[in-house]
Amino acid sequence: MQLFAPKSYDGTPIHLPKSSKRSVRWLPQIGDIFPNFQIASTDGPIEFWSWAEGSWILLFSHPEAKTPVCTTELGELASNQAEFKATGAKVLGLSPSPINVQQEWHSDIEAIYNAKVWFPTASDPNGELASLFGMKHRHEHPDAPIRKSFILDPQLRIRVIFEYPVCVGRSVEETIRVIQALKMHDDTGFAIPSDWYEGDPLVVPSELADADVMTLVGSPPVIVLPYLRMAFGKERKGAAG
Ligand code: BEZ
Repeated sequence: MQLFAPKSYDGTPIHLPKSSKRSVRWLPQIGDIFPNFQIASTDGPIEFWSWAEGSWILLFSHPEAKTPVCTTELGELASNQAEFKATGAKVLGLSPSPINVQQEWHSDIEAIYNAKVWFPTASDPNGELASLFGMKHRHEHPDAPIRKSFILDPQLRIRVIFEYPVCVGRSVEETIRVIQALKMHDDTGFAIPSDWYEGDPLVVPSELADADVMTLVGSPPVIVLPYLRMAFGKERKGAAG
């Protein structure tokens, strides 16, 4: 049996990187239940499942404490405590740096951003968890984790995975937007269009009849195309009155 002879749609061969031929133990995917683990953090030891279960979770890796882009990422998270708390999400950072270095770093960030680092960050000194969670990309950094974020739902299921290179910091606004979008989807069954923010119209899934949309939101869907119907909530954005 030949496993690695893929062809593109027009029949030309696709050359996969050599590493793709190695067997992969587990690469976290959307829909997987996130595994349990124990780890030391700036708030003391954490047993992940008991800490996380029942809340939306942002679990993110970053390469190292006391590095420039990572400092801006933690500073922006610290500065957006109220917005994060409004989503109900808990946050846990992960890097190889020792806990005492992370604690010193939090103090630096708090002084610069004038905001408390209100969430724990954890230490994975040998990078074992980072390897298990697919946070190490050898072409991007020889040993430190990349910037990888998992958003988990209260049942510990992976709902979103972001991967960013070392040289680009992530957007707190986008992270919050995606948590709000997932919650809106779960609460209503509607799908979420590109660049959606709370109050914007939602996408009606194909299985939902116009009459059901009327019942749910009080107005019929707007038929943009035969395969794209939009629902406007009761508090339609920009509506008068
Ligand atoms: C940074 O956060 O800027 C950074 C982290 C690791 C290596 C290089 C830069």
